[in-house]
Amino acid sequence: MNSYQKALEERKKQHLLRTLPLPPEGFDFYSNDYLGFAQSKSLQSEIEKANTSIKKNGSTGSRLLSGNSSFALEVEQQIADFHQTEAATVYPSGYTANIGLISCLATKETTLVCDELIHASLIDGARLGVSRKVRFRHNSIESLEEKLQSIAGQKLVIVESVYSMDGDICPLEQVAELCTAYNAMLIVDEAHAMGVYGENGEGLVQELNLHNRVLARIVTYGKGPGIHGAAVVGPLWLKEYQVNFSRSLIFSTAPNDHQFASISAMYTYLPFASADRNKLHKIVAYFIQKRKDSKFQWVSSPSQIQSLIVPGNEQVIKLSTALRQGGINALPIRKPSVAEGSERIRFCIHAYNTNEEIDLLFRTLENYLID
Ligand SMILES: Cc1ncc(COP(=O)(O)O)c(C=O)c1O
Repeated sequence: MNSYQKALEERKKQHLLRTLPLPPEGFDFYSNDYLGFAQSKSLQSEIEKANTSIKKNGSTGSRLLSGNSSFALEVEQQIADFHQTEAATVYPSGYTANIGLISCLATKETTLVCDELIHASLIDGARLGVSRKVRFRHNSIESLEEKLQSIAGQKLVIVESVYSMDGDICPLEQVAELCTAYNAMLIVDEAHAMGVYGENGEGLVQELNLHNRVLARIVTYGKGPGIHGAAVVGPLWLKEYQVNFSRSLIFSTAPNDHQFASISAMYTYLPFASADRNKLHKIVAYFIQKRKDSKFQWVSSPSQIQSLIVPGNEQVIKLSTALRQGGINALPIRKPSVAEGSERIRFCIHAYNTNEEIDLLFRTLENYLID
């Protein structure tokens, strides 16, 4: 047995083996399709219309070589306008956006000041850079201030607006205040807020009117927006900087026109989806009421991500199996994705979930956890 196979055996023993499951039957409390856009016929027909004028199957090269087009630049301007900023740079996914952006900003003149719960893609970006890195306690303004006070030189604070595992929300206004006070730049990953928050689904930064206080936002399209891809939005100089230093942008074939067309159609569609957003916020409120009435250990979250703490990898897998048998699909999140002891079932709530499905979910939990 080689060392790679031994590592797999070790994972199996610890109930940590990752697999590629096919979608199970049952009510969806696990996907990131918060607004139902991934299955929306109206969005699909907008995307098909946008795709009819496309002439090339592939982009043929990096954006810096043969892969650029006036269409790509037009779509990026559409994105920048929507997000009330100067420029946007599209990446194939949020992961590639984060590793490209953060690694090129993590220079030796910079200290990254990161919330301890930022996503793996931001952490990987930080690891690829050469800057000093410090972490502050999750969502703690006191801890952030303490770190900022102790750092001399250029500082870059990295947070998420809605945290992917806990579903809680960054105190963005206070974070922005501190960044101004300590002359730090601020980067906000809006992966779980994009499409969901803001009058037209712009994300939390614009909902709070903080877009001029933030250096860059990462908006991703595979969750609320129901498609695929991502963009970094911010000032023009930052786009120029990425074109020169972001390795996942420079050394990779550009997204093809189909991806740009889908992104463009999604942005055109987004402002007309306030009914879906309202439905989502209403059903989330129903879930939160049920959560507050229940006796279990929940992470306090106001968003569409709600987590039930069930310590232990084996225990959390057993509960997710029981839920699946009861018709509820929800994912067990295990160590090392979350810290030991904070293993959880993560429930993602969607505009298309119903009160009856949530009632069933809570009945199934009670039957399992109280028996
Ligand atoms: C906070 C956050 N940022 C970035 C990403 C990566 O985005 P994508 O799935 O588009 O690669 C994710 C995905 O899970 C995420 O949760």
